[in-house]
Amino acid sequence: MPPVKVLTVFGTRPEAIKMAPVVQELKKHKEEFHCLVAVTAQHREMLDQVLRLFSIEPEYDLNIMRPGQSLEEITIRALEGLVRVLDREKPDLVLVHGDTTTTFVAALAAFYRQVAVGHVEAGLRTGDKYAPYPEEMNRRLTGALSDVHFAPTCKARQNLLQEGVPAERIYVTGNTVIDALKATVRKDYSFTDPVLASLDFTKRIILVTAHRRENWGGPMQEIFSALREIKEQHPEVEIVFPVHKNPRVRDMAEEILKGIPGVHLIEPLDYEPFVNLMARSYLVLTDSGGLQEEAPALGKPVLVLREVTERPEAVQAGTVRLVGTSKEVIVAATKELLEDQGSYLKMAQAVNPYGDGQASKRIRGFLRYYFGFALAPPPEFTYLGEAQGQEIRDKGRL
Ligand code: UD1
Ligand code: UDP
Repeated sequence: MPPVKVLTVFGTRPEAIKMAPVVQELKKHKEEFHCLVAVTAQHREMLDQVLRLFSIEPEYDLNIMRPGQSLEEITIRALEGLVRVLDREKPDLVLVHGDTTTTFVAALAAFYRQVAVGHVEAGLRTGDKYAPYPEEMNRRLTGALSDVHFAPTCKARQNLLQEGVPAERIYVTGNTVIDALKATVRKDYSFTDPVLASLDFTKRIILVTAHRRENWGGPMQEIFSALREIKEQHPEVEIVFPVHKNPRVRDMAEEILKGIPGVHLIEPLDYEPFVNLMARSYLVLTDSGGLQEEAPALGKPVLVLREVTERPEAVQAGTVRLVGTSKEVIVAATKELLEDQGSYLKMAQAVNPYGDGQASKRIRGFLRYYFGFALAPPPEFTYLGEAQGQEIRDKGRL
């Protein structure tokens, strides 16, 4: 049989991190898969950081990013560019990841050209159309357009079943972010970034990220004011905040936090130093999706700066707590974890339900079955409990 042509499409930092292991896995098996990469470059610098790290050279780069871009601008530019790529390559399958506008538009372009769609990290839901915005709808719309759904967890599978997706189209893989994490986090890692290299790691480090659209404006002001207060109340901690490139985030972060000693506003970090910094941090404050999966794998408590999450597994497991965006609540929850060792250890020792590092292998295995190279797919990911989380945590533990 000739190799199956798979076009992987992504555009932002998190998609690139989570698709890199899949691209690498498919590219290792050229006899069965001809894997092409098209990036919309909805992100530019933050995407390139990941492409460099994983040595991915896209066959197509639509280079669509503009400063302060709107949702409709991304949609239009990506759709026009991707349809041209599809017309030229005529792939057997388009593989997309997650919930960005690139994800949805790539699935839409494939539908317009009647090409099958595989959705990696399928089935995450909050049930609230506007939270996260626009990601919840991006996922639901992508799901509606997809032929194969690679659900990271059993909960994600249940969500899809409830929406009427046929069971045989859903395959539980674990999250590919754990594949990437396992390949990247190391005990002996040393930082070259001057700020990180000069950090005093005997101090407790709070790692912060924030970028969600629904948090722009008032909620972000609350979050950043909370950080200022945390530093005032606990001068002994160091706060490290690699600030997202979005000017809406940057301007406010600088206005509220710039110049405070011990609050390090730095450029977005490459994935390698970032996850190795997370492994050496005490606590994570974030509104990111990916960090809610990575930090539990490293045994780091996470306070999620959102009202709802599509990743309930780690909340149930006890590693992640939803605190929302009120300044008082964020300050109080952080204070508790800094001052009450019992509360901290309860969260830090929780389990990791998101994956075992084999998700990309399972995705390839399922695609072998789907395209007739195998009679059955490999066994699905099942969460085995504490022992599974332990291996990755030990890699990161100092
Ligand atoms: C996007 C995704 C979001 C994802 C996030 C990950 C959408 C609508 N949003 O949000 O789901 O969680 O990425 O980070 O798909 N910028 C740069 N350089 C970069 C990246 C961004 O300058 O490398 C600036 C640009 O001014 C750009 C702005 O950030 O216009 C916003 O980028 P955009 O992709 O629209 O939104 P994000 O908030 O990054
Ligand atoms: N990340 C990174 N450098 C940073 C901040 C985050 O490499 O300075 C990684 C992080 O490890 C995770 C991903 O980027 O894998 C999360 O991306 P982001 O928070 O932008 O998006 P989300 O996950 O919310 O969609």
